[in-house]
Amino acid sequence: MSLQASLPWTKSPLIINAPMAGFATAPLATAVTHAGGLGFIGSALDMSALSDELTAASQALPRQPNGLLPLGVGLLTFIADPEKALPILAKFKPAVVWLFAAKELSDYSTWTQKVRAATPKSQIWIQVGSVAAALTVASQCKPDALCIQGIDAGGHGFSSGAGIISLLPEVADALAAAGHSSIPLVAAGGISCGRSAAAAFTLGAQGIVMGTRFLSASETHMPHPGYRQAVLSASDGGQTTTRAKLFDELRGPSIWPGAYDGRSIVMESFTDHAAGVEIGEVRQLHAEALKTEGGGFGVDGKGRAVVWAGTGVGLVKKEQAAGEIVGEVRREVVETLEKVRSRL
Ligand SMILES: Cc1cc2nc3c(=O)[nH]c(=O)nc-3n(C[C@H](O)[C@H](O)[C@H](O)COP(=O)(O)O)c2cc1C
Repeated sequence: MSLQASLPWTKSPLIINAPMAGFATAPLATAVTHAGGLGFIGSALDMSALSDELTAASQALPRQPNGLLPLGVGLLTFIADPEKALPILAKFKPAVVWLFAAKELSDYSTWTQKVRAATPKSQIWIQVGSVAAALTVASQCKPDALCIQGIDAGGHGFSSGAGIISLLPEVADALAAAGHSSIPLVAAGGISCGRSAAAAFTLGAQGIVMGTRFLSASETHMPHPGYRQAVLSASDGGQTTTRAKLFDELRGPSIWPGAYDGRSIVMESFTDHAAGVEIGEVRQLHAEALKTEGGGFGVDGKGRAVVWAGTGVGLVKKEQAAGEIVGEVRREVVETLEKVRSRL
């Protein structure tokens, strides 16, 4: 059975919103699922917020005949408290539980066992960013899918990595050689339109995950209107976004495990620090900017607040309903592949 067929309310090709903690809340997840995609709710530390979002989503979405809620939940395993998270998963039974950001890869097997015990019918997807991690996680956890995250991704990811164009096929070959070809792959990182999504499907992905593109969705929860404005106005994402650990150090020492950094739009906190302004002053200016009416957000590299976004940000031009994004990307994938076929 294909991955898409294992999520029976979804339409092909499978479009997924990334479980962006604080951004992907019930309105986004339910709109994506209603449009025939796989909607995700993200979470970080606050499990009561996750519970509230799942309560709202379960009022908006009918359960599947197998009892599962037709959406996914993302957990950041280095900060999620299993004693709080697992009862919530057992209560709401999401169709998919997505794990990311383990301190050690072996933490995923502990989480996998516990999640399977709490909600046995839910699928487990794990986001990784290298061939080595994909092989280890495949053999230790036997996940229902692996999300292959490329270096173009917005938000947190791996400080060393590759784009999905080389990463995904090498992962697929390595998994096949190790006897794990039955684990479906989904692709994430830099996919912001139907053409890049079509490319990911040709690489072997069975679904595509978009974070940055969904920052333009009206249903996505924004910390401040200036955040969306910064995303919609940015172009040339390879130049106007960058990966750095600094983004996690602006409020104090980073809590993230060492392998991770994050991709944000380049702003004054970054350019000042790169020019030699010491971290104490950068932090102070950042804290002051956050208190202003604009929330520290700006366009054209102005502003001091972090704006997590991927290299595909230049393709994100207007605010749209999430369901429209899902339908549009799905249609563009098919159109693109048909055009390519006739051109070759
Ligand atoms: C604003 C934002 C917040 C994110 N938060 C999370 C998160 O909480 N958990 C997670 O697993 N991934 C998170 N990610 C990363 C996504 O899972 C995904 O890998 C990424 O969005 C894909 O790249 P794209 O942004 O180019 O589409 C986040 C990404 C963005 C842009």
